[in-house]
Amino acid sequence: MWVRRPEAADTTGPVGHASARRPGALSRRLSFEAALKFVEDLANAFGEEETSKGTRHVRNVRPPPGRSFRGFRFEHCESIQDPNRVAGLACGAPTENSEKPGEQVPRPAQDAEHPRRPSRASPLRQRQLQPHPLLPDPRRRLARGDSDDANSLCSEIHGDRVGPMPLDRRTLLSRLGAGLSAGLVLPSFRAEAAQALLAAARAAEGKKPAELAGDEAYWSDIARAFDVDRTLVNLNNGGCSPAPTHVLDAMIRDLKFSNEIPVYHMWTVLEPRIESVRRGLAEEFGCDPEEMAIVRNASEAMETLTLGVDLKAGDEVVITNQNYGRMITTWDQRARRDGIVVKQISFPVPPPSPADVVERFRKACTPKTRVIEVTHITNLTGQILPVRDIVRMARERGIEVFVDGAHAFAHFPFKRDELECDYYGTSLHKWLLAPIGTGFLYVRKAKQKKIWPLMAAPKTMDEDIRKYEEIGTHPAANHNAIAAALAFHRGIGAERKSARLRWLRDRWAKPLLAADPRVKVLTPLDNVGSCGIGLVHLDGIDTEKLQAFLWDKHRIMTTPIVHAEFNGLRITPNVYTTPEEIDVFVDTVKGVLRKGLS
Ligand SMILES: Cc1ncc(COP(=O)(O)O)c(C=O)c1O
Repeated sequence: MWVRRPEAADTTGPVGHASARRPGALSRRLSFEAALKFVEDLANAFGEEETSKGTRHVRNVRPPPGRSFRGFRFEHCESIQDPNRVAGLACGAPTENSEKPGEQVPRPAQDAEHPRRPSRASPLRQRQLQPHPLLPDPRRRLARGDSDDANSLCSEIHGDRVGPMPLDRRTLLSRLGAGLSAGLVLPSFRAEAAQALLAAARAAEGKKPAELAGDEAYWSDIARAFDVDRTLVNLNNGGCSPAPTHVLDAMIRDLKFSNEIPVYHMWTVLEPRIESVRRGLAEEFGCDPEEMAIVRNASEAMETLTLGVDLKAGDEVVITNQNYGRMITTWDQRARRDGIVVKQISFPVPPPSPADVVERFRKACTPKTRVIEVTHITNLTGQILPVRDIVRMARERGIEVFVDGAHAFAHFPFKRDELECDYYGTSLHKWLLAPIGTGFLYVRKAKQKKIWPLMAAPKTMDEDIRKYEEIGTHPAANHNAIAAALAFHRGIGAERKSARLRWLRDRWAKPLLAADPRVKVLTPLDNVGSCGIGLVHLDGIDTEKLQAFLWDKHRIMTTPIVHAEFNGLRITPNVYTTPEEIDVFVDTVKGVLRKGLS
């Protein structure tokens, strides 16, 4: 939808779709609430109303071309498909239909109020990276102390504020990035998800994360954002988690849009939006966007580091025998190929103290040690390791530390500066609840030159984080939907999420420990050394047979962990898991303890 605004003077009027033409001097962005109100009024004026399952929907919001509404004249109209996009205008986020062939959408250079942000992209990339004309640069705002509504909204969405945030309705809406307001529900956003979050926010008002952790009035609303099959009990969300329905829908919508004319819609319209995903993830992690590469998973992130660092025969690398299997395999291949020496250390489960783990690493280091690879939280027992202390110890010795955070990001709260790390890789399809095939690689700016990309990039990109994204043709839809997952994550809040995950862990671990002395939980239940992942071992019961029994007979999905030094079932619920599902697992395991696997 394009809207033409004849005059520049009106300060109360709303904005149109992001592809709005505002040929007058007006380029002022309006507050998010004003934009929402405008969309709602617009929908009421021009939409077709219907009610389904008790929810009012407004469809086909299509103002007739030539009609005026609140001082805007509509030149050409498409049905508004997604309130997210309309609301995006208020915060300056890029939107899908921001460019169409033949349109003269104002370019940043033509727009005096929103000058083009100097891009550090390579010349190759610059061809494609056209910042949206309405995209405000939060750094610019911070620099000049600008406090206009839209920019402060932008800071909420992109998380200038860190730490626990209030979840009033406005904040939630803006963090959602969705233009939903009461009474306006547009179909393609899967409004139920956003409404679930809004309802949950009401239930949460004024409560601390720990208080809320067992409050089903809140968490059942969150669970409604997922279309999961409740005939199954999925306690392996650590491997890969279902995404909330609206996140999946965002990806599917963009896949369909790409498929109309991939070379244009995917490469020119959608791909440049990776920049706002980069910015959002960087703010969440606490680094500069120029240090954040969007990759497909933690394996890609970590192998970029493992295979991309220059090492020569005889150089040493220290890892643990609890690093992820594929990562160990990658180092082993490097040892076979380049003659490096890979030393694996071991530590007890659970370790006696964080200092004990640091000491084990320290003892394994020699003057030949070049790299340490450590998992932030192990996939085997869910043990959180003392990354910052390992980084400090290594830095004193000139050793690089590659941090495998596949299970950590968006699982429990932390920022880059708390880890003091230079390198970090994660998957986003585990705890961020982003679509499958998403991850990030963080490399501190000063280190980028020394890590080669997995796929070749030109020399001009040597110090450009985007060199790690030079992977050839790939869907833009998957990585763009990270934005929706991030908004959902922020809508809950990292503190609340981790408190709930610990509450769910205790809900199975404590009754099982109390039930029988043969039960051993190899994960500390102290809320410091672990979060939502736990490993339970039953003396005298074969772990793999137990896993098969739970799935085959009871449709309870768990992960068998069989390590040379320990074994057990790994249990990983997620925010949509209900207490009743946990209880089914507990009761079934108690039955096994009584009667065996029959
Ligand atoms: C510690 C760790 N590192 C890396 C990975 C690899 O993640 P992905 O398969 O998403 O690449 C995993 C997967 O579970 C993991 O647990």
